Amino acid sequence: MREPGTLLASGRDADIFEYGETMVLRRSRRGRSMKDEARTMEYARAHGYPVPAVSEVSDDGTDLVMERVDGPVMVAAIGRRPWTVRRQGVILAELHNRLHEIPAPDWAPEAPCGSGDRLIHLDLHPLNVILTSKGPTVIDWTGAARGAGEVDVALTWVLLASGGIPAGRVKAAVLGAGRSLLVNAFLSAFDLESVKPQLPAVVDWKVTDPNMTAGECRAMRSLVRRLG
Ligand SMILES: Nc1ncnc2c1ncn2[C@@H]1O[C@H](COP(=O)(O)OP(=O)(O)O)[C@@H](O)[C@H]1O
Ligand SMILES: [Mg+2]
Repeated sequence: MREPGTLLASGRDADIFEYGETMVLRRSRRGRSMKDEARTMEYARAHGYPVPAVSEVSDDGTDLVMERVDGPVMVAAIGRRPWTVRRQGVILAELHNRLHEIPAPDWAPEAPCGSGDRLIHLDLHPLNVILTSKGPTVIDWTGAARGAGEVDVALTWVLLASGGIPAGRVKAAVLGAGRSLLVNAFLSAFDLESVKPQLPAVVDWKVTDPNMTAGECRAMRSLVRRLG
């Protein structure tokens, strides 16, 4: 493997570098192996799901080279064109439904809450969707698991509604009036009676995530109380 180029983005656990003209390299800062993540991405892609193509993984697993997908993340697109917010909610819902048509492979880890046999992403929010000229592409498959599609939907719901989109960089764009439009457009694609029962367990799990702030955890808990 060659040395990567310019740093493009620095996330919670990994740095993303340019890698030639058409690739990026995702490098774990904690030395975590991304082999499972790469395998999941290849599996989802083989099932026709829009995922960057994996090119190679280093022997120790800490470097993942993948196709570079060009375009804004969904949150940035909403910030720039707030009038598209409902449309983005619909796109996000379609990405959930398409993913949950895919059966989980045998080797996928069990989801931390709920049970089911679908491939679920467990972080499918608007910072992990890149809008390319060829359509939306989903990145950041670190938490992908075998589980119930409703768990993915419930998690995205609480993250959107509580403002708890990790990193919070562009949170302001989604907060305010636009946030409820986004949430409502997203939720309109699902049967909420089967999603709501998943909320308490999803929130109990998500509040243990060190990336969530105390305020976000309070907002998630209050959403569960309001709906419960
Ligand atoms: N395949 C890719 N092509 C282009 N940019 C990418 C790609 N993967 C990640 N990025 C950029 O890196 C950022 C962080 O990537 P992500 O995988 O979501 O890591 P994390 O959320 O852990 O920081 C993204 O918001 C995006 O800007
Ligand atoms: Mg991410």
